[in-house]
Formats: sequence, C-alpha cells, structure tokens
Amino acid sequence: MFTKIKFESLLISLFLLFSLSSAKTPPRPRAFLLSVTKDASTKQYLTALPQRTPRVPVKLTIDLGQRFLWVDCEKGYVSSTYKPVPCGSVTCKRSLSAACVESCIDPPSPGCNNNTCSHIPYNPFIRTSTGGELAQDIVSLQSTDGMNPGKFVSANGVVFDCAPNSLLEGLAKNVKGILGLGNGYVGFPTQIANAFRVARKFAICLTSSTTTRGVVFFGDSPYVFLPGIDVSKRLVYTPLFKNPVSTSGSYFEGEPSTDYFIGVTSIKINGNVIPINTTLLTITKDGKGGTKISTVEPYTKLETSIYNALTKAFVKSLAKVPRVKPVAPFKVCYNRRSLGSTRVGPAVPPIELVLGSKNTTKSWTIWGVNSMVAVNNEVLCLGFVDGGVEFEPTTSLVIGAHQIEDNLLQFDIAKKRLGFSSSLLFGQTSCANFNFTSKA
Ligand SMILES: *[C@@H]1O[C@H](CO)[C@@H](O)[C@H](O)[C@H]1NC(C)=O
Ligand SMILES: *[C@@H]1O[C@H](CO)[C@@H](O)[C@H](O)[C@H]1NC(C)=O
Ligand SMILES: *[C@@H]1O[C@H](CO)[C@@H](O)[C@H](O)[C@H]1NC(C)=O
Ligand SMILES: *[C@@H]1O[C@H](CO)[C@@H](O)[C@H](O)[C@H]1NC(C)=O
Repeated sequence: MFTKIKFESLLISLFLLFSLSSAKTPPRPRAFLLSVTKDASTKQYLTALPQRTPRVPVKLTIDLGQRFLWVDCEKGYVSSTYKPVPCGSVTCKRSLSAACVESCIDPPSPGCNNNTCSHIPYNPFIRTSTGGELAQDIVSLQSTDGMNPGKFVSANGVVFDCAPNSLLEGLAKNVKGILGLGNGYVGFPTQIANAFRVARKFAICLTSSTTTRGVVFFGDSPYVFLPGIDVSKRLVYTPLFKNPVSTSGSYFEGEPSTDYFIGVTSIKINGNVIPINTTLLTITKDGKGGTKISTVEPYTKLETSIYNALTKAFVKSLAKVPRVKPVAPFKVCYNRRSLGSTRVGPAVPPIELVLGSKNTTKSWTIWGVNSMVAVNNEVLCLGFVDGGVEFEPTTSLVIGAHQIEDNLLQFDIAKKRLGFSSSLLFGQTSCANFNFTSKA
C-alpha cells in the first residue's frame, strides 16, 4: 500500500513537472516561410530576408540551384553580429572553398578581413563571378504552422558570401544579392535547417502573376492554400540525383553541382513517346547531360535535338490548328482564338516528363497554362527554347520557371527526393492562395 501511494505521488509530481516545463517553453516552430513576388520588368522571383543587427530586410533574387546566399557587402552592410569565416575552419572546409584571403589591404569591414575563407559568388544573369568573403550573420524568419505566418525567430551564424556592389548588375531594382537554395552545406536550406532546427527540406510555390505573392517553406509540411487545401498530401515523389561536377558558371575544382537533378527518362506528347536520344538524359561522369530545375531560366531549355523532336511532335498533334508567325525566342505560335481553353490553360496536348523506368514510372504533366506563353493579347507560343547542341548547354533539359509556376515543388534534401504537385489549378487553388494574414 505504502509503495503504491509513493509511486502515485511520484507520477503526479512527474506530471506536474512535465506540464510546468511545457507551459514555459512554447513548442519550437517546425517550419518557416518567405513570401515571393515576381518582378514585372526582369521576371525574377524576389524575396526579402531580414538579416544583420540591427535587422534590415534584404531584397534578394531567388536562384534555386545556386550554392549559397550572397549579398553586396560593399555598399551599406552594417551589422554588429557580422563574423567572417576563418580560413581552415570547419565551415570553410565544408563550403568546399579552395581560397583564402590572407590579408585585405583596406581597413577591416564586412567583406574585407584578414585570414578569411573566400568563395565565388555568381550572377547567372550577367554570367559573372568574383571573389567574396565567406561570413556569418543573424537571419530572421517568420515561423508558420503551414496555414498562416507566425512570429519571427532569429538565428545566429547563417553562412553567406560577400560580393562587391558591381555583381548586382542585371538583378531587379533594389535587389542586394541572390538567395541560393542549392543543395550543399552552405546552401541556404541546409543553413536554415541547422540554425532553426527544422527538417532539411523546403518547398517552393511560384506565382505566374506579378501582383500576387507566392511562398517558400523551410521545414515540415503541411502546406495549406485557400480554401484549406494541404498540397503536401498531393505530392508525388521522385528521386533527386547528385551531379558530381558543378554546373555553376564558376566553381572550385572538385565542387559537385548544387543544382537539383531529376531522372526524366522520356518525354510524351498526348501520351506518345517522342523520339529522342535518351543518352542525353543521363548525367555523365564529367557532369554533362541530365535534367535540372531552374528559377533563373524563364523557360524550359532543351538540347537542340530534343527541342526539335518536341516541337515537331507538338506541331503534329495540333496539325489542324493554323500556326502564326513566331515571336522570338519561341518558334511555335498560335492565335489564342484558334485554341480552346480549359481550367489548366489553353487546350493544347499535355507534355509529360516521364520519371523513372519500367513499372515505377511517374509523370510530371505540363498543361497548357505551363506550356504556352502569351507573348501578346493574341498570340500564344510554346514556351520552350532551344538550348544549343549536344552538351553545349551542359545540362540537356533545364525545366524553367514558367513551367513550375503554380506547381508546388518540395525539395527533400535529407530524403533525396522531389515532391511535385503538377498544376495546382486542377485542384482549385494556386500558389497565390497562401493566407499571409497572421493568426491573432
Ligand atoms: C591585415 O593584416 C595586416 C598586417 O598584419 C594589417 O596591416 C592590416 O591592417 C590587416 N587588415 C585587416 C583588414 O584587418
Ligand atoms: C546519343 O548521344 C550520345 C551523347 O552525345 C552520343 O554519344 C550517341 O552517339 C548518340 N546516339 C545516337 C543514336 O545518336
Ligand atoms: C515490376 O513488375 C514486375 C512484374 O510485374 C515485378 O516482378 C517487379 O517486382 C516490379 N518492379 C518494381 C520495382 O516494382
Ligand atoms: C486567413 O487567416 C486569418 C487568420 O487565421 C483568418 O482570420 C482569415 O479568415 C483567413 N482568410 C481566409 C480567406 O480564410
């Protein structure tokens, strides 16, 4: 009897302890978000990241495959929490940098410190890169329960690279750098996963309009869009592949690609496989070929022979519809009135990217809204472009931004897989439908 009572009171006190401690610390957020807009003049996807002490919102262009976040440290970088990454440090090694700035001749400032790990920020819009000091600073992100934004949380030591002001050329107005969401240790998603202790995955949902907001989620789902649809429940998964050789415009020897590659094995139009050389779809030992996803290429770019096969098959399947004079950079255009219209855009044959082989195949279907581009009020063109001959575009198939708008893509780095939704317009929602109103 005595022991029983003792046991019970022990349980009660344990229970009390537990409830007291859980009352004191609110649950740690499992996900964070950034809102994304499409810039009308450059078509770049932009976000604002609160960084530094005191915090300032830093306007950035999103580059899905780029290795890290870089910002202009030359003009207007003021922060009491800025810390350069020393040469030879673990962070420097894991960034795969092969350069060290032993002494900087100017007075010390962000971007100019002695004995600092150096990396190479790249601007894909002007195809230019420079040297830059690798550094760390505070970043703030808004938490989310997947339905609404919540409170801001700050974390120390988020790694980024410092660039000179001149590297901002070609970026949208007031943009101060590039948010590289690439797959690597210094990639922003991995930095966020470590700093904010969330799952090593993120999801992007880009809007097609320049007047609405899309969203990037870091960490776990749900991803709920009005009217209350959790898009994570609809995702179809396919493996992500590593390319052993960097596909960036500048890199250190031995750096692997930080781009996200998927295993497209064939392409179908209207259900029929188009004849292409499938060797071009596999990644070679020297990093050529394969299929990657990009937010900086506005339209899907195909190696010339694939481009020719695709356009030929597309034209054939719409043989009854008269074509109109093409509008560059496109070659296949129609009058809007000659094509019907559906919930998922112009009534054109769906283009299927077949993923995987044999009986495990899955298809990412590109419907009219993502395949056709309105070049003016009357003309719609097939929104794919010729990327040049055999391996000249290093990667044979680059899925561009127009093709992923209003699709949710989840990059699960830890599980090495991509979750894709296909067009959300089918499911009566869109990337513009995230509810950005905070809960009271
Ligand atoms: C780097 O070291 C040199 C020599 O020790 C010194 O003169 C210079 O001021 C230092 N520069 C910075 C940026 O700390
Ligand atoms: C397919 O492409 C590969 C790589 O460019 C090339 O070596 C091969 O000869 C091509 N095959 C055909 C049938 O054209
Ligand atoms: C594919 O189908 C064959 C025959 O139906 C079956 O034996 C095999 O296990 C399947 N493979 C996979 C990966 O599902
Ligand atoms: C958006 O979220 C807010 C806060 O939870 C809520 O009050 C509002 O009703 C939501 N809007 C819609 C259209 O559901």
